[in-house]
Amino acid sequence: MKLFLDTASTQEIKTANDIIPLDGVTTNPTLILKEGKDYKKTLKEICNIVNGPVSAETVSLDAEGMIKEGKEFAKIAKNIVVKVPMTPEGMKACRLLTKSGIRVNTTLVFSANQALLAAKAGTYLVSPFIGRLDDIGEKGMDIVREIRQIYDNYGFKTQILAASIRSTEHVKEAAMIGADIATMPFKVYEQLFNHKLTDAGIKKFLDDWGKLQKGLKKR
Ligand code: E4P
Repeated sequence: MKLFLDTASTQEIKTANDIIPLDGVTTNPTLILKEGKDYKKTLKEICNIVNGPVSAETVSLDAEGMIKEGKEFAKIAKNIVVKVPMTPEGMKACRLLTKSGIRVNTTLVFSANQALLAAKAGTYLVSPFIGRLDDIGEKGMDIVREIRQIYDNYGFKTQILAASIRSTEHVKEAAMIGADIATMPFKVYEQLFNHKLTDAGIKKFLDDWGKLQKGLKKR
């Protein structure tokens, strides 16, 4: 499974990328607003750090506007993927952008049927929002499982990008189901490394190493 960061912070992206090269990044207007920087400049900076797909979200409500925005984003870098919402206009834009050679990420997907439509429109990535479904008392991970089955049944090439991830448990479940990608906040990414027994093990080895050094000095 590919691991993406869901952030517009170049600092977070650089930090993660230095450990294990990131497979990609997803952004949205909320994340870019949080950084307080220019929208396109931020996308350019991210594309300079990461080789994999970098999702840039459109804000128009009509297909024509989304296509115009998408074509502008595509000029930023080769690895830009244009995000469009799961609406009829979004799917029209998806079909036409895809036809013109621009890859699309269909975002704000909350049902397996929406994901089926997005695949038929030719989307490169589909983003089911797990956490936001959990927030309203539904099981977000269920739709990832359903989408996996539908895509496998019909051989759709669209990659499932598990989005709106809130915990390491979400990452593990998405991997077990067979999502192609999980995008997560930096905090969740950092937590993936942690286990209390790893910390305890390091402490014990260091303590014993210290004791060994003392013993050697006495001789
Ligand atoms: C993904 O592309 C979205 O930007 C993101 O995962 C949304 O997550 P949220 O529900 O935590 O805002």
